[in-house]
Amino acid sequence: MIYFQMMDIIKEIKKLKKEKNAIIMAHNYQRKEVQEIADYLGDSLELARQATKVKADIIVFAGVYFMAETAKILNPERVVLIPEKDATCAMAKMVDIAKLKELKKQYPEAAVVSYINTTAETKTYTDIVCTSANAVKVVESIPQKQIIFLPDKNLGEFVRLKTDKELILYPGFCYVHQQLITEKMILDMKEKYKDGFIMVHPETPQAVQKHADAILSTGQMIKEIKNIKTKNIIVGTEEGMIHRLRKDYPDKNFIPISLNAKCVGMKAITIESIYNSLKFERYKIEIDKETIEKAKKSILRMLEIK
Ligand code: 13P
Ligand code: SF4
Repeated sequence: MIYFQMMDIIKEIKKLKKEKNAIIMAHNYQRKEVQEIADYLGDSLELARQATKVKADIIVFAGVYFMAETAKILNPERVVLIPEKDATCAMAKMVDIAKLKELKKQYPEAAVVSYINTTAETKTYTDIVCTSANAVKVVESIPQKQIIFLPDKNLGEFVRLKTDKELILYPGFCYVHQQLITEKMILDMKEKYKDGFIMVHPETPQAVQKHADAILSTGQMIKEIKNIKTKNIIVGTEEGMIHRLRKDYPDKNFIPISLNAKCVGMKAITIESIYNSLKFERYKIEIDKETIEKAKKSILRMLEIK
């Protein structure tokens, strides 16, 4: 899209937002131009917390489906829109409810901790939700010793190393972090930038995590930079993060471990689709009352943890 067209669309988006009393919430992996027009930008936990404070009539969620669902569960009386139907999280779709029910039967004493990257339906079978920013705290907060943790096995392994709880891991993963960021890539980066600080997301495999200086959620990465002395910072997560980091810390040199680490669901959303979403009020997130009530408990329980 040429620059002037983009500026026109952005102008229209601003006008529509005012007319309809709408806000745009966006995840850190969004395209840079989407990040630029967001009213709130953050990681999953920051966005969920922000969603409890919304006053607008309409929330346009520039993220993936489970994030918009979470905003709807926390705001059932408001209109929540996702600009693209294809904006989905591949990992959230990996949970098979029949398999989860089986696990619950097999481990009747266990609590179910679900990553926020799950569907509203999965959350109805969940005792407490967690995000990559608070997974250890959440697991430590529950009285049960045994925990069914789903769906991300890598985040689960990361938590397992930090707790005495017995974790039963579901075999889910994120293809972006599991397949597009490899041990070889991180070793090559280490070789090239000997003084570099390496930060990776806990969705990366253990083979990657073990070479990192810090394992952090996207929101934690942003906060951590001020404590890092070196100029070169190597980042192992979805490439959208690089824009956010460069904008917030222009004096640092951020190097993505892989520029191919792109989430198709996140990238489905564009400036044009946000404009259409606001104009035609599409696509509305609809969740039945019973699901909202059940799923909400597991999210609110997480939000109570400071
Ligand atoms: P964060 O909560 O760390 O932003 O992660 C969300 C996500 O989908 C990572 O792939
Ligand atoms: Fe889901 Fe992975 Fe995309 Fe995050 S990066 S939204 S976990 S598919």
